[in-house]
Amino acid sequence: MIVIPGPSSLGLGWRIAESLGVEPQAVEHRVFSDGESYIRLTKPVTGEKVVIVQTTAPNPDSKLMQLLLMARTAKDFGAKDIVAVVPYLAYARQDRRFLEMEALSLDVIFKMLEASGVTDLVVVNIHNEASIRAIEANHKVKVHNLSAVPLLAEYLKKNGFDRAYSISPDKGAIYIVKAASDVLGDGYNFFEKTRDRKTGEITMVAKNLNISGRRAVVFDDMISSGGTMAKAIEALKLQGADRVAAACTHVLYMPGAEEKIRTAGADPILSTDTIESPFSKVSVAGLIANKLREIS
Ligand code: R5P
Repeated sequence: MIVIPGPSSLGLGWRIAESLGVEPQAVEHRVFSDGESYIRLTKPVTGEKVVIVQTTAPNPDSKLMQLLLMARTAKDFGAKDIVAVVPYLAYARQDRRFLEMEALSLDVIFKMLEASGVTDLVVVNIHNEASIRAIEANHKVKVHNLSAVPLLAEYLKKNGFDRAYSISPDKGAIYIVKAASDVLGDGYNFFEKTRDRKTGEITMVAKNLNISGRRAVVFDDMISSGGTMAKAIEALKLQGADRVAAACTHVLYMPGAEEKIRTAGADPILSTDTIESPFSKVSVAGLIANKLREIS
């Protein structure tokens, strides 16, 4: 197996290779002044299973393009299988046409991966498992969707949140809080969130949770602008929660997001290294390495 840490996941790619006990293979990479990417593989890949680790944020379009260039080059030079490890898969939220004539972005991404020779796609807490499974059913790429939630919950349990209550900001993330409460142990619930499809404005209905004086964790798959997380934290603080943590798998680290969430009262903000940020306290390297052993 050849592990290639792509330009956007150098740290995680090296940690995965280390967990697998293999030497990571560097990729030569440059970005030209007009924004185009140059990619060159540095070792022969003929007949090999090639694992490319490349997350797709920040700058999703260029990170995706680099991924496609690496995968297609591995295919052109005779790789047997190509496993794309894309811990954060951009465009996964546009997994259906919410308004008439919208692009079905996730399907387009999937088609491009398939055309580039990708045989397996490893993702972590993809936005909606059902959508990716529906798309997978019409293609040859096999999807492996891993969950970092037990790792996040274990970290919180050891760092002051044992027996904390788990809350998700919307019903879609309920599977996340169920898994978290298996570790933290004090039950779970969800708020009701709706987003205006044209303006992006969020409305949240926070039910009364009898949370006064208790510790709580808001779990979500991702933090982007921070609006969703901030609203959920605020609601818990208003209901008298003692200490509230904000935990998610992917932090996109948009300008202003941290301030919004801290102002709402979150302490700490916790994330994984699917996208490196100052909040990446939990690594998904071991989780991904285990999956790669299984599919090799
Ligand atoms: C959406 O349903 C997701 O699960 C997240 O709640 C959302 O993408 C977070 O975005 P933001 O931080 O911009 O509110």
